[in-house]
Amino acid sequence: MSDLNHPIDAGEADQLAARFEAIVGPKGVMRDPAELAPHLVESRGKVTGWAPFMVSPADTQEVAACVRLAAKSDIALVPQGGNTGRVGGALALAQDRAILLNLGRMNKIRALDPLDNTLTVEAGCILANVQAAAAEADLLFPLSLGAEGSCQIGGNLASNAGGIHVLRYGNARDLVLGLEVVLADGTVWDGLGALRKDNTGYDLKQLFLGSEGTLGIITAACLKLFSRPQESISAFLGLTDLAASVKLLAQARKDSGDSVVACELIPRIAIDMSLKHMPGAVDPLAEPHDWYLLMEATAGRPNSGLSEAFEATLAAGFEDGLIADGTIAASEAQAAAFWHLREILVEAQVKEGASIKHDVSVPTSRVPEFITQANEAVEEVMPGIRPYPFGHIGDGNVHYNLSVPLGMSPEAFFAGEDEIHHRVHDITHALGGSISAEHGIGRFKVGENARFKSPIELALMHKVKDALDPAGLLNPGVILPAARVDK
Ligand code: FAD
Ligand code: MLT
Ligand code: ZN
Repeated sequence: MSDLNHPIDAGEADQLAARFEAIVGPKGVMRDPAELAPHLVESRGKVTGWAPFMVSPADTQEVAACVRLAAKSDIALVPQGGNTGRVGGALALAQDRAILLNLGRMNKIRALDPLDNTLTVEAGCILANVQAAAAEADLLFPLSLGAEGSCQIGGNLASNAGGIHVLRYGNARDLVLGLEVVLADGTVWDGLGALRKDNTGYDLKQLFLGSEGTLGIITAACLKLFSRPQESISAFLGLTDLAASVKLLAQARKDSGDSVVACELIPRIAIDMSLKHMPGAVDPLAEPHDWYLLMEATAGRPNSGLSEAFEATLAAGFEDGLIADGTIAASEAQAAAFWHLREILVEAQVKEGASIKHDVSVPTSRVPEFITQANEAVEEVMPGIRPYPFGHIGDGNVHYNLSVPLGMSPEAFFAGEDEIHHRVHDITHALGGSISAEHGIGRFKVGENARFKSPIELALMHKVKDALDPAGLLNPGVILPAARVDK
């Protein structure tokens, strides 16, 4: 019987590191505590884990050999990409007898096919480099999010990331044609097909997409590419009230022939904090408004009539009392400045002090109702708490973040965190929503997820995990509670 519950001690760590080094070479094993430190802390900086070392294979066969060695040595593997995830999914914990397996050295663009509109990349490619490879061929890979300069495509796919373009192009899982995956027994599944249609049974790749490293290690992917837009229009709009946001979005979609690619909700508090904490931040409008919409629409051909359609939507929006003030970007630089403001508001909130995060979705039409109810509930739990709800309203996805009440210590604030999560998630559920729209479950939302998944869903998820990783070696404690298996 193996004992997976005691941490790896120093002597065992030396022996293990030597065995992994025999597979990946000295460049592939990181043990220096200073170098290792950023890989052990999750992106919000709230939790720091522990692992004796990190192994970084250079190719698929090395990943497979590492998985076989881990299985033989009864140690768990925590796959890691750019470590930008928000739910602690890439966090190694001592009690799991885990080491980190980082895909960063597997960063080759394998092939681009402009006739098939496909791009085959290794898992460790930085998302921005994947976008750039597509752009070089005058094509588009549309996945776009604030961490794109450091997250890896393998991490994006494993966490089924969303971002700002889901409204038009779908989530990460919708952008994949094929995958190469190292399974928990160390075999390699070559599912790197590039077919748009393949109806020959279970769609196996979907099991691994969004599985957060718990079912297999993604080593490469064949991605869908799209034509690059030839015309683009971005508008920054001050709304008369929150309810105007969803009405305006629906109208813009209709008038533009569904050409809206991104639609983000921004509250005034986020503009204020960005102006306060982020050098260079500029308020696009002269007067403050409680709520803003940042929208982008694109067309595949120049002079398509998009601008006229979009301007007509905005004119009607003013007339119908939905828009109080607004501006359309007059240049690419101005559009980039609008989107920069959207991106930095995440960091601005961190700089303001302690915060609590939620990443929920509800039917888009119910976003205003959700925010109103959640604001009332959290104020009741903690008077003075400062709601900071923003995000991908076009997908019904609200990052319902909260900032510490002025003058309250972080300790007192976090003492109320569980109750706040419960109240916000109960409201989400009652409105037909999800407690994780795009960030995943990781380690941080395992308990909350179990409150809302039906017993049949949980049982099916356990069956899938048991079938693909019977020894529980891949990312134990992520998505599902860690199951310890006697062998
Ligand atoms: P990691 O954080 O390293 O890992 C994420 C999960 O995937 C972990 O469970 C890990 O074990 C697993 N994993 C990683 N690589 C592999 C692999 N090759 N095979 C199997 N499992 C693997 N998310 C959104 O959805 N939308 C956003 O708009 C968004 N914006 C963000 C903005 C900022 C500033 C930050 C810091 C994060 C943001 N995120 C967003 C969170 C996030 O999900 C992503 O940044 C990204 O998708 C994670 O990629 P990563 O390479 O950093 O993965
Ligand atoms: C975003 O949309 O900016 C992110 O998902 C928010 C976050 O990372 O917390
Ligand atoms: Zn987001």
